[in-house]
Amino acid sequence: TIDITAKIGSIKLRTPVIAASGVWPYSPEFWSGERLEGLGALCTKAISLAPRRGNRGIRLWETPSGVLNSIGLQNVGAKKFVEDYSALVKNCPVPVIANIVMESEADTQETLRVLEDVEGLAAAELNISCPNVDGDGMSWGLSCDSTAKATAAARKAWRAPLWVKMTPQAADPAAVARAAEAEGADAIVCANTWLGMAIDMCSGRPAFGRAVAGLSGPAVFPLALRVVWQVAGAVGIPVVGCGGVTTASDCAGMMLAGASAVEVGSAFFGDIGAGRAICGGLPEFIGRYGKERLTEIVGLARIER
Ligand code: DOR
Repeated sequence: TIDITAKIGSIKLRTPVIAASGVWPYSPEFWSGERLEGLGALCTKAISLAPRRGNRGIRLWETPSGVLNSIGLQNVGAKKFVEDYSALVKNCPVPVIANIVMESEADTQETLRVLEDVEGLAAAELNISCPNVDGDGMSWGLSCDSTAKATAAARKAWRAPLWVKMTPQAADPAAVARAAEAEGADAIVCANTWLGMAIDMCSGRPAFGRAVAGLSGPAVFPLALRVVWQVAGAVGIPVVGCGGVTTASDCAGMMLAGASAVEVGSAFFGDIGAGRAICGGLPEFIGRYGKERLTEIVGLARIER
């Protein structure tokens, strides 16, 4: 039998499929039982220090090749998260990763300290890459200097594994990833959504209040794969691939390029069981390259043959 377990540093995953931040429902029904089959881990919706209401107006817009979102980091805030979700996290059969909004350095450090009380969080994923807010979010992840500052601040306040989720909009993703690594990141997640937009053809106006929004889904897969390739070639820490992964072929492709695991988001809109379908198809790809373990195909496309 073929082994499809995955490993991101010290974190062992029963499968390489991680539910990306903001996509997996919080309802208790979704945090145990059959819906988790095929999943290796769950990422929470982004958590900020204070509650956030998110953006006004339209928030989701489907296109034939993916989905645009403009949620604007809506969440209940760190204290309420601890109250409401600690038990769910503790009892969750797969590791839970807390996605953390990069706000001011002091606020983000405070958020991380509040979350230290949640038993069983496997890692924090620092979100320096949200395209849907002004000030925080992706403005942190565009340059090496601000990425270094953000990572260093979070590192000081968090002992457990620290992942940094970067924006694909950085001009030099490899350099940004190296900046995060240098300040103590344990893994790089590449990448968050891409800047896109839609015109509402009924009103003749931009569909979203901020005009721009985050694009995910099959449209971005080849773009994200290229970012994974560049980043995996630049850092010595594990890379998690994210962007349009829908099938076992996409997952295996990300891993051949150097990802240790993948985050899946939009695919769950079409099939909440997408993790099972992806995992079901992995043995065929592992066998195709003459291997018996999924971990053996990580970076295989990089090796000269
Ligand atoms: O596309 C995204 N949407 N990426 C994020 O990091 C956050 C989210 C939102 O809340 O807008």
